[in-house]
Amino acid sequence: MNAIQHGKVQFNHEVAPGHFIMSVGVPERFETPLPGQFVMVRMRNSMDPFLSRPLSVYSFERQRNGATLEFLYRIVGKGTACLSRLREGEGIDLLGPLGNGFHTPSSIDHAVLVAGGVGVAPLTYLACHYRRRISSFLKITCYLGAKSAADIIGLERLQDFCSEVIVSTDDGSQGVCGVVTDALAWDARNRAGNAEFIYACGPRAMMKCLSEQIAEDDVPCQVSLEERMACGVGACLGCAVALRNRMGGLYHGRVCKDGPIFNIRRVNWDE
Ligand code: FES
Repeated sequence: MNAIQHGKVQFNHEVAPGHFIMSVGVPERFETPLPGQFVMVRMRNSMDPFLSRPLSVYSFERQRNGATLEFLYRIVGKGTACLSRLREGEGIDLLGPLGNGFHTPSSIDHAVLVAGGVGVAPLTYLACHYRRRISSFLKITCYLGAKSAADIIGLERLQDFCSEVIVSTDDGSQGVCGVVTDALAWDARNRAGNAEFIYACGPRAMMKCLSEQIAEDDVPCQVSLEERMACGVGACLGCAVALRNRMGGLYHGRVCKDGPIFNIRRVNWDE
């Protein structure tokens, strides 16, 4: 069971309207997160669990006497608005790393990432993990989507780890005009180099579309789900998600404890 640990904000910059990167110094004993895991983050000494926000790990680097954890997040409510006001040197409480991580087989030759908005955060950490720990030869193609050029975040860092990053924007102001899944579908029809594993994180509509697109394929695909969470450890049932078992039967799981990484074919996208 993870205990709450204290971190100190190193910087907390707005990198696009309403989007921030927060760097936090953490103690040496902080466990190295798996790609896809998240951390519950809140202001030091806050007693309000709803101000504790689940943030995906964007990067994690160990140093001599500690480590640096980075989060890329968007203001979506009171909790993230409070986090955005934190300044260098202020303390925060961290619970994690929590949840399961992406499956990262070493046997594949081509991984495809599909990222929308701040969904880029866990996928960047995944690309870094693949590149640094598994194979420097693996082909990694990333499809990165946003509403417009101003909303594209994390592109340069992704380019450091990916073989190719294909940008698409809804209004055509950068990259391909259209939604990110259209670019993926076009490439699947017109270019060689089939994906051997697909990873996705972004708006639910994007992932639902992806699930329909690959319904007839047998390529493995994992998604990272984002839900509002209060406890983050499976105790409050506040993050229920409708899932399907192998026989197609419906049941509810907890994003924080059973996820946040799920097989795309096990999520009931109609709910
Ligand atoms: Fe409490 Fe998931 S947030 S059970």
